Amino acid sequence: MDIQQVGVLGCGLMGAGIAEVCAAAGYDVLVREVSDELWERGRARIEKSLEKQVGKGLLSPNDKASVLGRIHGVMELGKLEGCDLVIEAIVENIDDKRQVFVALNEHLKSSAILASNTSSLTITQLAMTSGRPDRFIGLHFFNPVPRMQLVEVVRTLVSSSEVVEQGMEFVRSLGKEPVECRDNSGFIVNRLLVPYMLDAIRAHEEGVGSIEDIDKAMQLGCGYPMGPFTLLDFVGLDTTLYIADIMFDEYREKRFAPPPLLKQMVQAGRLGRKSGRGFYSYDKK
Ligand code: CAA
Ligand code: NAD
Repeated sequence: MDIQQVGVLGCGLMGAGIAEVCAAAGYDVLVREVSDELWERGRARIEKSLEKQVGKGLLSPNDKASVLGRIHGVMELGKLEGCDLVIEAIVENIDDKRQVFVALNEHLKSSAILASNTSSLTITQLAMTSGRPDRFIGLHFFNPVPRMQLVEVVRTLVSSSEVVEQGMEFVRSLGKEPVECRDNSGFIVNRLLVPYMLDAIRAHEEGVGSIEDIDKAMQLGCGYPMGPFTLLDFVGLDTTLYIADIMFDEYREKRFAPPPLLKQMVQAGRLGRKSGRGFYSYDKK
């Protein structure tokens, strides 16, 4: 089965980027958000990202318009009935994800493939509620999606090999590099990256260094493009907290436990770039 129409659930930080790269690769993309306002906000995010590329001379204004023309917002799940692949990128919450997969299953054609962009939930527990576990894989994109080459393709014990191969081919059609992963919480990158990001917060709480100095040290000392606190603000502190809770529940090791400061920041509404303030302030003024 060749993939022509792609559905994307969620148009937040990741759903917007996934919709953008699928449309840029020539796919017809339907995006489903939970309100018109959130769809418009996500569409604006896509437009801003494309405009960045126009500004850098990487994209012509006409191509930008063509990409945007292939992305359409829908509210009803039934509108996704013609999709060959649906990629879920909604909030990192298992109940919300399960609920949307159960509702979606009654609308999709039998050949449709389902994928989750989850950072830390295991794919199997989502696949088994989808009504089509053999046609369910993980497609874990990285933030910002238009810039990061890797997509982790997650095979479960029940994924069909044909669907896994289709997932690998789809990733290559986006101009990205697939890496096949086992279905363990965090797959490859987050299994290593989440403890690093959480340890940066713990190091700061222990007085090892200021937020700015820890970022500067990792950039200058290890050549990282972003220090850990800049990265945490970029990922989103709410999403990071959801991920840490899920991974700590899975592995029961301190290195995955959310530090008290992270919880306090989320409780205080300081979610990072997405809220205008996290470990740094992004208030334009
Ligand atoms: N969409 C959104 N933001 C973009 C973007 C795009 N297409 N391209 C660049 N950016 C952002 C940068 O964050 C930065 O934001 P501001 O302008 O508002 O400060 C700006 O645009 C800089 O753009 P540049 O292209 O000038 O910056 P750069 O060339 O130095 O590279 C970068 C930007 C590619 C994001 C680079 O900083 C980088 O690689 N950072 C590390 C990203 C990373 O580690 N991602 C993985 C996160 S973990 C994850 O995704 C898994 C999970 O499950 C949580
Ligand atoms: P986000 O908070 O920016 O966006 C989530 C979006 O999902 C919101 O716009 C919300 O309105 C929408 N949503 C919630 N329930 C929905 C539903 N039932 N139907 C449609 N839309 C719904 O979160 P995000 O950072 O984009 O993360 C989304 C997923 O991607 C999570 O599973 C996360 O773990 C994963 N992920 C995040 C990153 C990252 O760096 N933020 C990287 C890789 C993977």
